[in-house]
Amino acid sequence: VKAAVFASGTGSNFQAMLDESDLACEIILLICDRPEAAVIEKARQHQIPVYQFDPKQYATKEAYERELVTVLKKARVQWIFLAGYMRIVGSYLLHAYQGKIVNIHPSLLPDFPGKDAITQAFAAKVDKTGVTIHFIDEGIDTGPIIAQQTVDMYPDDTIRSLTKRIQQVEHKLYPKIIKQLVQNEGEL
Ligand code: GRF
Repeated sequence: VKAAVFASGTGSNFQAMLDESDLACEIILLICDRPEAAVIEKARQHQIPVYQFDPKQYATKEAYERELVTVLKKARVQWIFLAGYMRIVGSYLLHAYQGKIVNIHPSLLPDFPGKDAITQAFAAKVDKTGVTIHFIDEGIDTGPIIAQQTVDMYPDDTIRSLTKRIQQVEHKLYPKIIKQLVQNEGEL
């Protein structure tokens, strides 16, 4: 089973997927919309092809998504895992990969959707936050939830220490859920 990862940033979740020896699928492509993103170097180190695109070069979201879908279909990609991809997936891509696009978000959705979820939770002084893995729909962090894991927040936490604790959970949870989804062909 072939999968693509969409990422725009550091790529620590991408790295966690590559480090998992038993993912039940093969990450064969990285799709990245930011040429300076550190995740690109991680793909290169693992000889994973990178498809880089610049959304500004296209008149519409549908125009670049049409091209992405052509690339994905040609590579026989069946699953898409978003890992710090900072764009909203549009209806063209959603329909081409219905039920096969998964995202990870660093909060217990529906709490703290959108950007800076960890900072939002920290500022709200919650005593628990966490990680959510969900299917994508047309909203921002609103699709059906697949799995959630709670992360405690302590009075002496800083954004940095909380981020670290959340990332540790992400790096274990995402590969585990990917494996389950792929093996169950998307059924939960
Ligand atoms: C993760 O916290 C993920 O939950 C969010 O974006 C971040 C990506 O981090 N969607 P990285 O690039 O995988 O290190």
